[in-house]
Amino acid sequence: MKSINDDENANLTYLEVARGKEPGGAEPLAAETPVFKIIGRPTPRVDGRLIVTGRAKYTHDIVLKDMLVGKILRSPYASAEIVSLDLSAAKRIPGVLATVQLKEGRVRYEGEQVAAVAALDESTAEEALQAIRVEYKVLPHVVSPEKAVAEGAPQVLDSANVQKFNEYNRGNLEQGFAEAEVILERTYRTAFEIHHPVETHVSIAKWDEDRLTVWDSTQAVFNVRDGLARMLNIPASKIRVIKNYMGGGFGSKLGANEHTAVAAQLARETGRPVKIALSRKDNSLCVGNRPSSMITIKGGAKKDGTLTALQMTNYTSGGVGRGDRCSEPLVDIYKCPNVRVEEYTVFINAGASRPTRAPGHPQGTLAMEGFLDELAAELGLDPLELRRKNYSSKNQGDTGTPYSSKGLDQCYELGAEKIGWSRRNRKPGGGPGKKKRGIGVATQIWWGAGVPGTLADVKIHPDGSVEAVCGTQDIGCGTRTFMAVVVAETLGLEPQDITIKIGDTAYPWAPNSGGSQTAPSVAPAIRDAALKAAERMRALAAKRLDVPAAEIVLAEKKLFAKNNPEKSVSFLELARDLRREAVFHGERGDLPAGFAYNSFGAHFAEVEVDTETGQIKVLKVVAVHEIGRVLNKLTAESQVVGGVTQGLSAGLFEERVIDENSGKMVNPNLQTYKVATAQDVPEIVPIFVDLVDPRINNLGNKGLGEPPRIPSSAAIANAVYNAIGVHVREIPMTPDRVLRALRAKEASS
Ligand code: MOS
Repeated sequence: MKSINDDENANLTYLEVARGKEPGGAEPLAAETPVFKIIGRPTPRVDGRLIVTGRAKYTHDIVLKDMLVGKILRSPYASAEIVSLDLSAAKRIPGVLATVQLKEGRVRYEGEQVAAVAALDESTAEEALQAIRVEYKVLPHVVSPEKAVAEGAPQVLDSANVQKFNEYNRGNLEQGFAEAEVILERTYRTAFEIHHPVETHVSIAKWDEDRLTVWDSTQAVFNVRDGLARMLNIPASKIRVIKNYMGGGFGSKLGANEHTAVAAQLARETGRPVKIALSRKDNSLCVGNRPSSMITIKGGAKKDGTLTALQMTNYTSGGVGRGDRCSEPLVDIYKCPNVRVEEYTVFINAGASRPTRAPGHPQGTLAMEGFLDELAAELGLDPLELRRKNYSSKNQGDTGTPYSSKGLDQCYELGAEKIGWSRRNRKPGGGPGKKKRGIGVATQIWWGAGVPGTLADVKIHPDGSVEAVCGTQDIGCGTRTFMAVVVAETLGLEPQDITIKIGDTAYPWAPNSGGSQTAPSVAPAIRDAALKAAERMRALAAKRLDVPAAEIVLAEKKLFAKNNPEKSVSFLELARDLRREAVFHGERGDLPAGFAYNSFGAHFAEVEVDTETGQIKVLKVVAVHEIGRVLNKLTAESQVVGGVTQGLSAGLFEERVIDENSGKMVNPNLQTYKVATAQDVPEIVPIFVDLVDPRINNLGNKGLGEPPRIPSSAAIANAVYNAIGVHVREIPMTPDRVLRALRAKEASS
């Protein structure tokens, strides 16, 4: 088979190269051997210097001429009726330019927006908020899912507090349990988490006649544009959204926010730009959270570990928003013919959930992977062997569609070796001493195939300079760098030679940066554009050098004859022949039908648990991922380190706490809502399986945004189980929960 990496095929798309073995056949295509010079190597961020020296402009940094400060008054109550609202005193304060009522009637969570002001400065705006008089009739609230499901609980929305939102069946569950030789049932719980991006949400709105420009801290400039068009009832063509640099989003910044529409409204009313920045408290209350879960798994297996039945019931709460579908890991990863899932949302009086880095998966993975380890112990099997025993090559537990590529077996192999799997306790809790060590594993599945139709341009100027342009955004993962890497590779230039323009709806369309889809959408689009640019340059060089175009190679800022490198012309000199700016349009192609596109990974954790204090210390995490081709080793590793850190943080520390009596969140800041810091972070070893997805796109890369966030809490929980011989079954695994689990184990033995 020809390779896309052969220079002679550099202007073909991946699937053209693979022609003859079109997807749809059962025979998987052989993985390509990467021979790229820059793609896949560690390339420092092209904008790294700008970021670490504080010169990169974040939305918070933007100050426009005549810009006003907008502020929002929010409900202090979890449930209340607005009886009256009086803006007159606020209006009279000098320096207040606009006031607006945003809400009438019921408020259903603490932090719901009620009114807004625009003023000349921060303190005047603050003073104006204080001057707004609101009379509330406080109503009964319910803020814990356990209480919300009970008979007679205050009703949160206009419909029931508990609603089934997902049901899945395959095979014959009863028969599966009848065939089982061992049946186990366990319940696992996960807490509400807050996204807490370092940069809080912030928007600036500015009108020029009927045209609106918005600078927004967002993962999705096009979603914000289209959402604002709907909210403000104006054409999307009149709105431009810009996002330059951003301090994280994790799913909480995927669409148009209410406060952004308010900024636009206040800007229209005052005729001046308005900036609204949310406080850390606002960020805690009203721009999303990861739903809680309470997952019961009942499973059956043969003595050799063959799964015969899996049943899952989940009660998940997303406040006034929906809970998370947490069943995917159970439904998809392991071979099991008989499965039943029921998932219920439980509404409570708290801010609505939003997607949070791999929605539903950390919760479902904690439960499924914890269950497998408890089952392995019951069967006297090695937990890794149990996973391998039920390995699948198709989705839906080996009953569905074949995967485009799946390197999970290699993840297991590489990770087990690196962590020293054989050192684990054969029997959970079998180790000596009061500080007990353990090793655990957990598997991950995710999507992240990228979005067909993503557009990107490569421009070559007659002076030899090159731009890569795409309306995508960098949410902190290094979008600019992989774009530069791909274009430089394709044109024989260096990443620093490429000027990157992103983060603007004025540029070619790209999807939101969520769902791990940025790299597998944008990289193939810009690769496509760069291949077209290379083809044009090759044609020009062919004429000049009198060599067939097919024999021209682009490398080292030159174009030269493959068999006679002396015959060459510099990229710069050739660019002059273009005479004008030449634009090459690229597009991410379709995903071949007939395959499931998923990424896979396995994390291996080693922990030490102090059985006297309940303290868990994570010693090491080996994180192995199969994401097809790695575009940039350095930023990919950094993505994994961040994901593991977040998973550790959720596993040990993070939990939103709402006081049941007052209905108020008691830890709406980073002092009391504990997030892992540098001293909590162990040695993290990222490893990538050397594999290229032969079908997914012209580069063979899958997304990596969410995968490393998925299995680390579960791997750590399983390591704790291996250390102390009892599964804590609830995250965060705070010392009191660890001690309680130890106590329960003692009582039952
Ligand atoms: Mo992600 S939760 O799709 O930003």
